[in-house]
Amino acid sequence: MQQLTDSFNRQITYLRVSVTDHCNYRCHYCRDEDHISSTARADLLSYEEMTKIVQLFSQLGITKVRLTGGEPLLRKDILSLATQLGNIPTITDLPLSTNAHLLAPLAQQLKQAGINRANISIDSLKPEKFAQITRGGQLSNVIQGIDAAIASGMSPIKLNMVVMRNVNDDEIEAMIDFAISRNIDIRFIETMPIGSAGVDTIDHHYSEADILNRIRAHLPNQLSPIKAKQTSGPAKSYLITNTHSSVGTISAVSNNFCADCNRIRLTAKGQLILCLGQENSISLRDAIRSNMNDNAIKIMIINAITHKPKQHEFNTNMGNINHVQMVEIGG
Ligand code: 5AD
Ligand code: SF4
Repeated sequence: MQQLTDSFNRQITYLRVSVTDHCNYRCHYCRDEDHISSTARADLLSYEEMTKIVQLFSQLGITKVRLTGGEPLLRKDILSLATQLGNIPTITDLPLSTNAHLLAPLAQQLKQAGINRANISIDSLKPEKFAQITRGGQLSNVIQGIDAAIASGMSPIKLNMVVMRNVNDDEIEAMIDFAISRNIDIRFIETMPIGSAGVDTIDHHYSEADILNRIRAHLPNQLSPIKAKQTSGPAKSYLITNTHSSVGTISAVSNNFCADCNRIRLTAKGQLILCLGQENSISLRDAIRSNMNDNAIKIMIINAITHKPKQHEFNTNMGNINHVQMVEIGG
């Protein structure tokens, strides 16, 4: 099998697919209050086109594909996409990122289709606070979604909480206890200055160091580090002794894990984004609709990967990456 290697000798094995840029929530750090996802249907990749693109990537060494959004479960007939991707034998890891609002009735079938695990966003355990952060979200739906995911056998289930100073930072401990009570994992995420919504929220930035202090104080002598290789991602994680849970932090701003980056992103409109914090991209939708043959498209992908930027510039250039809102490319 061919492999995708960029010009910094990083091997690219992980593709994040944003299946829609629509979302039924409107989290402050992700979308502006008046942001409209107005993608015309013909502009979106069809499921056949997405599957075709993922197949080409799988022939180039991609083994992990995450379905994300926007909110992926909003796209009609998402089970059929999950099934088509689940049938590609060399895709060995097919996780879902979701706000879980619509997950409860779908979890079992998604698992059967091949979605082996899920990351679920949840930023508060207080219904009113939750509704405020998401601008209208329903906490009870989300908790039902989490429980259905657990019951479906997806594993691991990871909760993602974006920590914001003076918004939800008082709930770090409660969120850990919630995860432990359900035998699932919890990751605390630093806000990133992506898009105008992300830039606006950076005033509420809560650093990884502060998060870690809170975790350590809440779980004294109960943290056993998980080696970076095992987590294969930007999370710093710890097993919580005597529980079935792990806790971790994801901090694009305090840390720069670009040297180990293994990922690229495909938007719902078929744009291949090479780095979350940079503008470089190419249109695979145009390629696939122009009757290029498979080999030519693969060569185009291989070439694009050589232009993958070295790193984001959140620290040196904060606020200067306003090109898209996070809801369009997925968290
Ligand atoms: N900062 C950090 N994470 C973000 N997400 C979206 N916008 C941001 C941002 N500005 C991520 C979070 C959320 C997921 C859907 O997207 O992880 O849980
Ligand atoms: Fe919130 Fe996720 Fe929707 Fe963004 S995509 S508005 S973070 S639920």
